[in-house]
Amino acid sequence: MEIIKTDNRSLAYKRLGRQGRALVLIHGFPLDHSIWGETAALLAADFDVIMPDLPGFGTSERTENPSMLGFARGIASLLDHLNVDGAVLAGHSMGGYVALAFATVFPQRLAGLGLVSSQVFADTPERRDGRYKTAEDVLRIGKSVVIDAMSPKFSSDRRAQTSAREIMQRQQPLGIADALRAMAEREDSKDVFSRLTCPVVIAHGSADELIPFQRAGEAKEMLPAAHLIEIPGAGHLPMVEAPEKMAAALRLLK
Ligand code: MLT
Repeated sequence: MEIIKTDNRSLAYKRLGRQGRALVLIHGFPLDHSIWGETAALLAADFDVIMPDLPGFGTSERTENPSMLGFARGIASLLDHLNVDGAVLAGHSMGGYVALAFATVFPQRLAGLGLVSSQVFADTPERRDGRYKTAEDVLRIGKSVVIDAMSPKFSSDRRAQTSAREIMQRQQPLGIADALRAMAEREDSKDVFSRLTCPVVIAHGSADELIPFQRAGEAKEMLPAAHLIEIPGAGHLPMVEAPEKMAAALRLLK
């Protein structure tokens, strides 16, 4: 991992490939950059692949008042540091919320968007309340609250489940609680998404139990020019369950 300082905090990232267009792979909740490992290796011949750990995850430090917009600004600072102007952003689940926040504030820097197992909607009031309660439980009881609830829903593929579980075990309760609150407070991205003019790929497992495939279909209806790639049989971790298919989908953004 390499580390930069942004706003006096360490932001860690891994870079592979270094050829072609910059592709930022943004991890979901409560994971870190390593969830992209196999897919990133397949894309290294096509892109300059940059994989940050979002603040509070992996080896990146937490920030004050984290938000999806704050995470997006951290990615812009990382691109500045690397002298990269425009980049393709592909975000998995929560990483998709971050990529959509980036599209809101830095549209001119977005060369393409991959929305992987994600959605463009904000939380319902019930979902929001649930996130706040889970954040409190994580701080009171521990991260097992989230790990035990999410593990069986990530995927029916044992290898993917084990890999996600190992990554989740490495995360800090404070970072997990921060991200839960930040996701609860995120804005709806329907307008910004439906007005995108850059190439867009919506990739989603047909058997996703955390964010149903229907959300991908709804996004495609909002932006008919987007490529909708269904990954048959995959759950919420298509980058681990079907790395070849995941990489092929993202190559459409080359
Ligand atoms: C994720 O995988 O990042 C989360 O499930 C997203 C969410 O909870 O909305």
